[in-house]
Amino acid sequence: MSDFLQRALSSLGRKYIMAVTGALLGIFLLVHAVGNSFIFQGKAAFNAYAEHLHSLGPLIPVAELILLIIFLVHIFIGISLFLKNQEAAGNKYAVKSSAGGKTWGSRTMPWTGLTILAFLFLHLFTVRFVDQTLPIADVVYRVLGNPLYTLFYLFGIAALALHISHGFWSLLQTWGVHHPQYNVLMRIGACVLTALVSLVFFAVIVVLW
Ligand code: HEM
Repeated sequence: MSDFLQRALSSLGRKYIMAVTGALLGIFLLVHAVGNSFIFQGKAAFNAYAEHLHSLGPLIPVAELILLIIFLVHIFIGISLFLKNQEAAGNKYAVKSSAGGKTWGSRTMPWTGLTILAFLFLHLFTVRFVDQTLPIADVVYRVLGNPLYTLFYLFGIAALALHISHGFWSLLQTWGVHHPQYNVLMRIGACVLTALVSLVFFAVIVVLW
């Protein structure tokens, strides 16, 4: 195995990969939240935004493929790190690295991750892989007009909020951005950023309800 691959697949390398892919997914979420917020200006504005996106032609499938690869890498590396941590936790000589530092968000990472994955499947099959000739605003109104889907969306976005609140914090730690004096500030920053993104998604659901 090449030296580069060996380093990339080491525990530290995998943590860096999680941080980079997590940051890229976070950027996608920000852009997606801004795009969704066009719905606050009415159906026509939302449809115009979607049409503008689709007019970018071949750039869209390329961006979708890159996004899919980022998602898959994040999921597989995340699962591999989770299994490794489980194995280490089962080892009675293991040193607990994060004693006292575990939060609700960090403990539930694998489960919120799986919930987001389930949400994504439902989401893509209800709004993306549908008849592309329909106005996108009508598609979203129809999906979120169904109380069951609405509940599932609310649940999915709550899981997302919990996941990114810890993810953002963890990303800063991996990149070495930590200082005992500013850790509380950074935790607050992670919560504010999470609240902003999740609130836009929640608000879209409430507005359409
Ligand atoms: C109120 C919440 C949401 C609404 C109304 C919404 C709406 C949409 C719509 C309309 C599309 C299709 C865009 C198009 O075909 O032009 C879409 C695609 C997508 N959404 Fe969402 N979304 C929401 C939340 C989320 C969340 C929380 C995530 C991530 C966890 C997410 C991930 C995606 C992905 C990956 C795509 C496919 C992107 C693509 O293929 O270009 N969405 N969403």
